[in-house]
Amino acid sequence: MTRFFRTMLALGLSTALLGAGGALAQTVKQPVGVEACAPCHGMDGIAKDVEVPHLAGQNVVYLLNQMKAFRSGERKHKEMRWMSRHMTREELEALAIYYASLPRI
Ligand code: HEC
Repeated sequence: MTRFFRTMLALGLSTALLGAGGALAQTVKQPVGVEACAPCHGMDGIAKDVEVPHLAGQNVVYLLNQMKAFRSGERKHKEMRWMSRHMTREELEALAIYYASLPRI
């Protein structure tokens, strides 16, 4: 299976799983790369681990600023530095918009 089809499959499944609770999420399309964030931050922006912050409903500018800070190394965190450096600026923007659009807990 090509990477394209695997990504499409992952996005399709998660859209189905979001269901009714994701009414808001459906207004913002799930961006490319969100499946890479989901193991830690959740597809719904709600983290499962106590050491990981929730992203759902967070302010969009704040989210983007943090990702830029991880990327430049100004904010230090090994995994987040790696993640943010493997995405384009456009991808990070789309992810910030997506997570900000999700309903908070
Ligand atoms: C391996 C787990 C992991 C993955 C994968 C991951 N993150 Fe994170 N992320 C974290 C942790 C842990 C923190 C908290 C860092 C700290 O303690 O400073 C964090 C912090 C953040 C923050 C700052 C939140 C805040 O409240 O300050 C943003 C934004 C963020 N991540 C976005 C993303 C995005 C977008 C992706 C996918 C491209 C992603 N993360 C992938 C673990 C992860």
